[in-house]
Amino acid sequence: MSRRILVVCLGNICRSPLAQGIFEFYSKDKEFFIDSAATSNYHQNARPDHRSIKVGLKHNIDISSQRSRQIKGIDFLDFDEIYAVDQSVFETLLKLAPEKHLKNKVKMIDNRDVHDPYYGDEDDFEAVFQQLNSCIQKLIS
Ligand code: 4NP
Repeated sequence: MSRRILVVCLGNICRSPLAQGIFEFYSKDKEFFIDSAATSNYHQNARPDHRSIKVGLKHNIDISSQRSRQIKGIDFLDFDEIYAVDQSVFETLLKLAPEKHLKNKVKMIDNRDVHDPYYGDEDDFEAVFQQLNSCIQKLIS
């Protein structure tokens, strides 16, 4: 059975789509089932931000077919591990967990925040990619 992993950020258009793409890149033998979602409903069914698509492609990861969605209660049952990209998302996820014991599935993806690059520039997206790439390699090793 594959490990079912959900990565969550605020909008599901910048950070978590990249995290999903990176996990999938390292999961060629279907070792993992990966999805990503948003805590907000700001960008329902939207393509990833063009800057996330661009930085992914630079590293041979194509995330352009992903579409954003908001997390729902059933996700806390469907997934084994739910990773928050920052402390604020982590706290929101703990509040959204439909049952107390399901909070145990919620973890930080790294030991520090993956900062929201939405109002940043290309360098910020590259930094997000590098941070996600290194913490995801640790998580799957
Ligand atoms: P994400 O970035 O959480 O990494 O997808 C954001 C995308 C959109 C917004 C905030 C963060 N927004 O406020 O619309």
